[in-house]
Amino acid sequence: MERRDWLKISALAIPLLALPKTYIGNWINKSIKQINAKDFGEDFLWGAACASYQVEGAWNVDGKGPSVWDTFTHKKGEIHNNDNGDFATDFYNRYAEDIALVKKLNLKVFRFSISWTRIFPDGIGKENEKGIKYYHNVIDECLKQGIEPWITLYHWDLPQKLQDRGGWANRDIIDWFSKYVDFCTKEYGSKVKNWMVMNEPAAFVGLGYMLGYHAPGIKNPYKFLQATHHTCLAMAEGGRIIRNNVDKANVGTTFSCSHIDPYRTGSKDLKAVKRLDALLNRLYIEPSLGLGYPTQELPALKRINRYILEGDLERLEFKFDFIGLQNYFRVVGKKSVFPPYIWAKQIPANKRDVPVNEMNFEVYPEGIYKILKQFSKYDIDNIIITENGVCYKDVLEENSVHDSERIQFFKDYLANVLKAKNEGVPVKGYFIWSLTDNFEWSEGYQPRFGLVHVDFNTQKRTVKDSGYWFRDFLSEN
Ligand code: BGC
Repeated sequence: MERRDWLKISALAIPLLALPKTYIGNWINKSIKQINAKDFGEDFLWGAACASYQVEGAWNVDGKGPSVWDTFTHKKGEIHNNDNGDFATDFYNRYAEDIALVKKLNLKVFRFSISWTRIFPDGIGKENEKGIKYYHNVIDECLKQGIEPWITLYHWDLPQKLQDRGGWANRDIIDWFSKYVDFCTKEYGSKVKNWMVMNEPAAFVGLGYMLGYHAPGIKNPYKFLQATHHTCLAMAEGGRIIRNNVDKANVGTTFSCSHIDPYRTGSKDLKAVKRLDALLNRLYIEPSLGLGYPTQELPALKRINRYILEGDLERLEFKFDFIGLQNYFRVVGKKSVFPPYIWAKQIPANKRDVPVNEMNFEVYPEGIYKILKQFSKYDIDNIIITENGVCYKDVLEENSVHDSERIQFFKDYLANVLKAKNEGVPVKGYFIWSLTDNFEWSEGYQPRFGLVHVDFNTQKRTVKDSGYWFRDFLSEN
């Protein structure tokens, strides 16, 4: 190319560089084909998701026992701003209003979780009538409003009394959890057909027992391995119990997952990517598929063998009707001597000059396409995106939130889900995280993920522009 051609190109590029990044992003994205809900097919499920501790509040009301998250958040210094879920979005009292919002936004499915300590305040033993009644009320309200309830049995709020006995690191938890699952599915199974045993084992075991960043705040590699094995056993057992108890059940469970790229193309970083992939994407799903733990790629995991008893490998297997995938960011990894065990680390998004959300998660729409393709290599009949969403700094002005960045996020991610679907990936649904802003675990109330803004002082709900965008997008369906 001649020098003057370079000059011409640079002259064109300079004004472009002067434009704000978001403008360029929008301009590029407009060139993507307009996304249409019809393209996903009539049977495609559209839903919104939430979780008990993040929304309910009422932490010690009507006989509820304390969970590990009540204990953890009440300790000073664990949570941003020392926030806690004592009140959250008051879903305990406002569930009917929130279910009406699901309907208003033209979503058909509502995913929520049961708080174990509302049913069994001590985790096992005596049940709590008011807690049991409460979930009947929520389910009945969904059905009354024509919304299909999808229930997660465990979204991280372990009974504190069970944690006092070791929690997921104690093998007895398989029995405790089974009794809880058995009770709930017998109690609600005639009304609810869609069940998820667990939410993201990699997150609650990894962050809770290895990194100590989430409840119960443990940092112990041995407990991490024990908790991993017991979680995988309990997950399969939970699946069997649901299938046994619920007529025509649709049994699933959910996993966090991220597409992973190497920081540099050299072989050391490529190997680091394999180790990260084993830890973040494969560890909890592969045992249920009969593939065992991915110890080959991550030798440090071999120590899990000391906790595997006779018959466990068969008990780990369970054929779920659907697998829920939850995707929030891409991971970029490189070889590192610290942390040990995995000899790999992630390069945070803010060190890579990429678009990020409020939690420093990289916004990388192709990631959802790539991870769907990766999981489609397993023997899975149905995949549902059970969570995807984004937190931005939302501003409430005169009863509106103009969150155009979030709208763009959904357009780009959905275009990539559709691309995977059109290439034969059996993806059958998409649940937005989340219906309303809520308590974002260690980050407190600052990150806002909702389609609906919540004023945490008054509990007033305001539908954001992204909520209206979804309503209109789905009205074409
Ligand atoms: C969890 C949610 C959480 C979301 C956003 C997921 O890992 O299931 O509870 O709010 O990520 O961080």
